[in-house]
Amino acid sequence: MGSGKTPKGMVSAPRLLQELAEGLEKGLVPAGILNDPEVFELEKERIFSRSWVYLAHASEVASPGDYVLRYILNNAFIVVRGEDGQVRAFLDMCRHRGMRVCRAEAGNASHFRCPFHGWTYRNDGTLVGVPAEREAFGEGFNKVDWGLVPIPKLAELDGLIFGNLDREAPSLEAWLGEALWYLELVSKRSPEGLEVLGPPQRFVVNTDWKLALETFISDSYHTLMTHRSMIELGIAPRDAKYAMYGEQIHIPGKGHGAMVVGSPPGAKLPPFWGYPEEMMERAKASYPTQEQWEVARETRIFLLTLFPNFSLHNPIRKPDHLYPTPIPMLTFRVWHPLGPGRIEIFSWGMVEKDAPEWFKEKARHSYLRFFGSSGTFEQDDTEIWSHVAQNAGSSLGRRLHFNYQMGRNVAPDPNWPGPGVAYPINFTDENLRNFYRRYLEMMLG
Ligand code: FES
Ligand SMILES: [Fe+2]
Repeated sequence: MGSGKTPKGMVSAPRLLQELAEGLEKGLVPAGILNDPEVFELEKERIFSRSWVYLAHASEVASPGDYVLRYILNNAFIVVRGEDGQVRAFLDMCRHRGMRVCRAEAGNASHFRCPFHGWTYRNDGTLVGVPAEREAFGEGFNKVDWGLVPIPKLAELDGLIFGNLDREAPSLEAWLGEALWYLELVSKRSPEGLEVLGPPQRFVVNTDWKLALETFISDSYHTLMTHRSMIELGIAPRDAKYAMYGEQIHIPGKGHGAMVVGSPPGAKLPPFWGYPEEMMERAKASYPTQEQWEVARETRIFLLTLFPNFSLHNPIRKPDHLYPTPIPMLTFRVWHPLGPGRIEIFSWGMVEKDAPEWFKEKARHSYLRFFGSSGTFEQDDTEIWSHVAQNAGSSLGRRLHFNYQMGRNVAPDPNWPGPGVAYPINFTDENLRNFYRRYLEMMLG
């Protein structure tokens, strides 16, 4: 790496990125990359200030005036649906002297009034009220110049709303590329689309955003140990290697990755994640392509991660020991970086809008029990993530290299019907190596 590529004065970041660049194709990743203050400073500038970041689902702001507060780095944005039905996002910062104009995390408002001096904005961002305007600012004051500042870029796709701090960023569609095919396995499963099961659960974990992402983009290998108790209880499929079966797919050049897990051999799991028959029929008609339907029909567990910090997880699960059959749950999550080795997880339970009510209730149970903030799987994972990040930041530990060599001897599956590069086994680090290629490209760019 040329010395001109990282800001002057940085010591650890250039070394760690160089080690990553040299080691990646050999499956060696420097531990320190996971919890380093300088690396985090660069990630803020080179990744999170230029990437499409998931903000909200359209169902969270379904009616005019509905708003939620969402964050990219330490910038708070009011994501709000205007009276004209359009969703916009504004920096929650009064144009007068910088106070927050919206101090609830969610609500409904036609206007936002600043509690400092009372400037008042319509929910389309227009400044409409300035106390004592004429006396204080005179005749020439033009309110049009002082509206709330919109997010540089905002885009909605199948109800998923993303923002980008870079006005020059490529379109969301270009950013997603072939990952869209996989997103549609969920977003186009029903003609009505999805809705949230409630506000996001939010919790802070002392770990690196990349480590959480790693687990969801590629690391199905951890399930046989980390989630062993779930297997023994019969909540996860009985075969301890259940998450190995199926395909791991990455989108070259983009950093996105998916895991499509099928039924373990001999396991009698229902097709199509175990969704009710009526939902299966609707999905069949709703998917854009026959290939998507055929892949979905054979899927029992599905994960998709969109670079840099959005993951969805859609597993078949038995919601409780009294319930006779497995039932799927769907969660969206954002690994919101707070600092080196520290994240806030935003976790939503999601469901098809036109699902039967009994199903929505079961899917909610399933989500809360397993992937809510106190969910069993969530607790298993976060406990481990925090210790790994702590070790990665320790004075000796940060000098070691992690092993990302799994699956280097496996050839891609030429018969996979979907886009991207697919491998016929999920116990592989292919998606991680692809993620870090994209990561390096942005960090060094
Ligand atoms: S800071 Fe908002 S009105 Fe003064
Ligand atoms: Fe896990």
